[in-house]
Amino acid sequence: MTATSKPSLLVTRAIFPEVIERLSAHFTVESNPEDTLWDRAELVRRLQGKVGAFTTGVERIDAELLAQCPDLKLCANMTVGYNNFDLDAMTAAGVLGTNAPDVLTETTADFGFALLMATARRVSESEHFLRAGHWTRWSYDMFSGAEVHGSTLGILGMGRIGQAIARRGAHGFGMKVIYHNRTPLSAALEQDCKARYVSKQELLATADHLVLVVPYSAASHHSIGAAELAQMKPTATLINIARGGIVDDAALAQALKDRVIAAAGLDVFEGEPSVHPELLQVPNVVLTPHIASATEGTRRAMASLAVDNLIGYLLNGTAVTPLNPAAIHNR
Ligand code: DGY
Repeated sequence: MTATSKPSLLVTRAIFPEVIERLSAHFTVESNPEDTLWDRAELVRRLQGKVGAFTTGVERIDAELLAQCPDLKLCANMTVGYNNFDLDAMTAAGVLGTNAPDVLTETTADFGFALLMATARRVSESEHFLRAGHWTRWSYDMFSGAEVHGSTLGILGMGRIGQAIARRGAHGFGMKVIYHNRTPLSAALEQDCKARYVSKQELLATADHLVLVVPYSAASHHSIGAAELAQMKPTATLINIARGGIVDDAALAQALKDRVIAAAGLDVFEGEPSVHPELLQVPNVVLTPHIASATEGTRRAMASLAVDNLIGYLLNGTAVTPLNPAAIHNR
């Protein structure tokens, strides 16, 4: 960089024009308006000479990549999830990671509830039936689903999004809310969410609707597999808005076929955008393409927070939502 030139940034995917405009005021920005999916080698090539990257939660940032990108100081995810970051490797390399929490909480909770409702009340399945021209008469038991109001809502992972779902269930639908988390909430938060802490075993056995909101990590990989599904009620629904890999999708497809549980609603998948072929065949599952935070206002707010992090850290040394502040001391 010469005395007058601006530092360089990479924006890895197509994004709102205001993101490029705001960043371009301070940086030389290489962007991807065609939204080409770069492979790893291409990403590394484009990161050469860049001090920062605007990332979207899927670009794997690990030791091998960092060794080839010595100028990099910050990777700013526009997502709350950051399982694309190897934070230990980033800290060791002095590269800060940031994510985009809070701004998507209520929108994601809305979607979690929408998926729960659609799954319990068989919205997709009945719409397909109607569109296929099979609806010839009303009948007393046609697409009879599971009760939502007054039922027991189980939440695995009681962070901000889990709490927002709990509030919707408890206050809006009169549901009894139980949850399991690494650490129980404070008494005040439990009261606010009207939620009761239970063991994972009790959660599985008692919930009528179980919503997964745990972050993905090696420890949460396949938290829900055949053994856990077998502990659930045969009338239960399972909703995953967290991350692919938390559920063993092959085991879930089998459980749905065998009616071990009644139904599932999935917004995230192992190996997405591929979806396990068996899941595409079973009728009692609602499938959506990772859209829980997808409203225009929320996606703009998420992108804007990533921009705040890039500008704040690279120009002033202060990120808004740092994940590994120890990295700063390793530069
Ligand atoms: C997130 O922010 O982590 C959502 O899953 C969107 O990718």
